[in-house]
Amino acid sequence: MSDRMLPATSDRRLRVGIIGIGWAGRQHLAAYHELPNVEIAAIAGMETGPLAALGTQYGVSALFQKWEDLIEAADLDAVSIAVPTYLHAPIAIAALERGLHVLTEKPLARNGVEGQRMVDAARDAGRVLDVVFNHRLRGDIQVLGDIIRQGEIGRPYYAKASWMRRRGIPAGGGWFANQDMSGGGPLVDIGVHVLDYSLFVLGEPRVTSVTAVTYGELGRRGIGRTTPPAGGDSPAVFEVEDFAAAFLRLSTGATLVLETSWAAFRDPVDLIDFSVLGTDGGAELKAVGATDTPVADLVVYRDLDGEAADYKPEAEQGTNHAGVVDNFVRVLRTPEEWEDYDGSLALERARVIDACYQSAAQNKEVVLA
Ligand SMILES: NC(=O)c1ccc[n+]([C@@H]2O[C@H](COP(=O)([O-])OP(=O)(O)OC[C@H]3O[C@@H](n4cnc5c(N)ncnc54)[C@H](O)[C@@H]3O)[C@@H](O)[C@H]2O)c1
Repeated sequence: MSDRMLPATSDRRLRVGIIGIGWAGRQHLAAYHELPNVEIAAIAGMETGPLAALGTQYGVSALFQKWEDLIEAADLDAVSIAVPTYLHAPIAIAALERGLHVLTEKPLARNGVEGQRMVDAARDAGRVLDVVFNHRLRGDIQVLGDIIRQGEIGRPYYAKASWMRRRGIPAGGGWFANQDMSGGGPLVDIGVHVLDYSLFVLGEPRVTSVTAVTYGELGRRGIGRTTPPAGGDSPAVFEVEDFAAAFLRLSTGATLVLETSWAAFRDPVDLIDFSVLGTDGGAELKAVGATDTPVADLVVYRDLDGEAADYKPEAEQGTNHAGVVDNFVRVLRTPEEWEDYDGSLALERARVIDACYQSAAQNKEVVLA
C-alpha cells in the first residue's frame, strides 16, 4: 500500500507514473505535463532509447523497463496504463492493491471477466479506476449529446455509427492482431470508442441484446497494413477480425447499428460517423478523415411549421487525452467522487463487446442480463 497520504487535495503535488511510451503513453505524458501541481515522477517502457529521451524531455529520472519495478519503486499517487491490452488488468490490479489510483487506456481489458476483476479491485481499495474514452470528448460529439439531451430531435429511435478504415491495421499488426494480447480486432480496439460515444450521445441506455458478425478476410492476407509488422517483413500473425458489424437493441426501445474496420475495400479516407433518427428530428455527424478531422460536419434535421428547418451547429475541437487526464486529476482531488469512478461504465462497454464476439461466434442473438 502506498504510504502517500490521500486524499490528494488541491494544494498537494500529485505524483504520477506513466506505463507505456507508445502513441498512447505519449499523450498521457504530454497531458500531465501541462497540469499544475502534478509531477510525472516515473516512466516505464521497454524501448530504452526513447525511454531515456522522454526522461530528458520531461525531467524524469525514475525510468523503468518493467512496470512491476515502477509500481514497486516509485512513491506514487496514481499510474496511467498505456500498454498492450493484455497487461491492463494485471497492472491495474497490482497498482490498486498498492493504494494507487489508475487511469487505463481503452479498452478496459480484453474482456468483461478481466474487467470485472479490475472494478472489484478498485472498489476493494477505495481508489479511482478511470478509462480513457477520449472520443466522447470530441467537441462535435459533445454538441450532439447536448442537442439530444435538450430534446431537439425528440426521442431517438434509430442510430447508426461507424469507424471505418481502408488501411488501418495498427502497427502493421503486432500485438494488436494477436488475439491473446489484444482480445480482438477493430471491434474491441476502435469499435469500443464508437460504442462509447454512441451510448453517451443517446443518454446511456442499457444494451439489452446484440446480433453481430465479424470477418477476417483481408488482414491475414497482408491487406490493410500501412506499416510492416513489427519484427520485419515476414507475414505477421493476424488472428483477429478486420471488420465487424453489430445490431444492438437498447433499453429505451431504440436500435443502434455499429460498423468498424481496420481493413476494407472502401473509400481510402477513414471515417468516423454517427447518425440518428428521432421522433421530432434527426442528426448526422461525419468526420471524414477520422481523427485527422478535429471537427466533424454536423447537421440537425428538423421541421418548423411543416417546413424543413435544418441547421449546422457549431462545434469546437475536442479536448482528447488532455481532457481525460485533466478530469482524472480533478477526480483525484475530489474524494467524494471516487466512488463514481470505479470503471463500471467501461465494464458495461466490455460486456457489450463480449456479447458481440459471442454472437458472431455462435451465429445468434445474445441477450444481456
Ligand atoms: N485512446 C486512444 O485514442 C488510443 C489510441 C491508441 C492506443 N490506445 C490504447 O493504448 C494502449 C497502448 O497502445 P499503443 O498504440 O500506445 O501501443 P504501443 O505498442 O505503441 O506501445 C505499448 C507500450 O507498452 C510498453 N510495454 C509493453 N510491455 C511492457 C511491460 N511489460 N512493462 C512496461 N512497458 C511495457 C511498450 O514498451 C510500449 O512502450 C492500448 O491499450 C491501446 O488500445 C488508445
